[in-house]
Amino acid sequence: KKVVLAYSGGLDTSIILKWLQTTYGCEVVTFTADLGQGEELEPARQKALLLGIKPENIFIEDLREEFVRDYVFPMFRANAVYEGQYLLGTSIARPLIGKKQIEIAEQVGADAVCHGATGKGNDQVRFELAYYALKPDVKVIAPWREWDLTSRTKLIEFAEQHQIPIAKDKRGEAPFSTDANLLHTSSEGKVLEDPAQDVPDYVYSRTVAPEDAPDHATFLTVDFERGDAVAIDGVKLSPATLLAKLNDLGRVNGIGRLDLVENRYVGMKSRGMYETPGGTILLAAHRGIESITLDRGAAHLKDELMPKYAELVYNGFWFAPEREMLQVAIDKSQEFVTGRVRLKLYKGNVTVVGRESPYSLYDQELVTFEEGAVAYDQHDAQGFIKLNALRLRTLGQRRKRMGT
Ligand code: ARG
Ligand code: SIN
Repeated sequence: KKVVLAYSGGLDTSIILKWLQTTYGCEVVTFTADLGQGEELEPARQKALLLGIKPENIFIEDLREEFVRDYVFPMFRANAVYEGQYLLGTSIARPLIGKKQIEIAEQVGADAVCHGATGKGNDQVRFELAYYALKPDVKVIAPWREWDLTSRTKLIEFAEQHQIPIAKDKRGEAPFSTDANLLHTSSEGKVLEDPAQDVPDYVYSRTVAPEDAPDHATFLTVDFERGDAVAIDGVKLSPATLLAKLNDLGRVNGIGRLDLVENRYVGMKSRGMYETPGGTILLAAHRGIESITLDRGAAHLKDELMPKYAELVYNGFWFAPEREMLQVAIDKSQEFVTGRVRLKLYKGNVTVVGRESPYSLYDQELVTFEEGAVAYDQHDAQGFIKLNALRLRTLGQRRKRMGT
């Protein structure tokens, strides 16, 4: 019996590792992914070795480019935002981790996979929907739903019993629960659980407060090709390096902080704090280039589909036919979403200040307040308005007749 564990190297997944060995008596294969969370991965290898994992059972992969190219960018083509504000930084990473776990399971002949998400959240759903979609007969182990280590004290006791190294500050209560990758950092729980209370300053980890951002504006350009960002200030960058660069610019300018109460898929409300510096800039830039390159019909339909798409990503249905159908439609809309956007960053704000494209549909001749093009005859507008008004006039006449 072999199980592939999504292993961060942190205390919780180390405890899970030992628990799998002792309770299930199975051979554990660890998988640690670099999604740009900003932590060294070698310590995870050392820790796994220390906990008795065979070297050939330790998998560590740099997924940063794949993450941004095949998950983040397709999602940004849709301008996906959940409940009006959340840029889905955790939601979009889970399917990729799940997919890699299944690939490794196939490779090493494991019949089970395991994750460290709790039984109350969204992440368990996202991981497991990915697992089942890609390996229908897989056995899923979710320790948080199974074990009796129901308090921090019991967890620490278990760790001490099994010689699992505990960082000093982890002995007491962890201040909150976090998840980080190239797109965002999220924090939930503990001090954040009362939605009436401000987020304490120390919770923020990757942006300065807007108040402390520079007193002068920063300008940059982002180039797009078919809906994907490809260059900053004219310099071509790979997807992951581009997002990392936007993160740096967002960090110093205090961009992308969000304090949100959201509806989890499992039915409860939860309060979280998010920092999505680069993603917030990217979303504004993408909408900027779409504003001149998308036809109104396509643009408005996209905006109608977007909440559905965002909900599918949030609920964990990345590998579902309806998400893939929407993706095809969205990708088709991006055919001419190519060009350059100029942005201004200033104290927590990102503003589009210029846009240009060889495919622009913007026609100054058509729109100008000066003497304009012959393609538009203002007299045509009279009939246009009259026919549109027909129903409204009929209704108005009835109202008058009835004296209401
Ligand atoms: N609420 C966010 C989501 O469902 C983040 C979940 C994980 N974050 C965490 N701090 N444990 O996508
Ligand atoms: C967890 O419960 O493991 C994190 C939060 C979530 O999945 O929504």
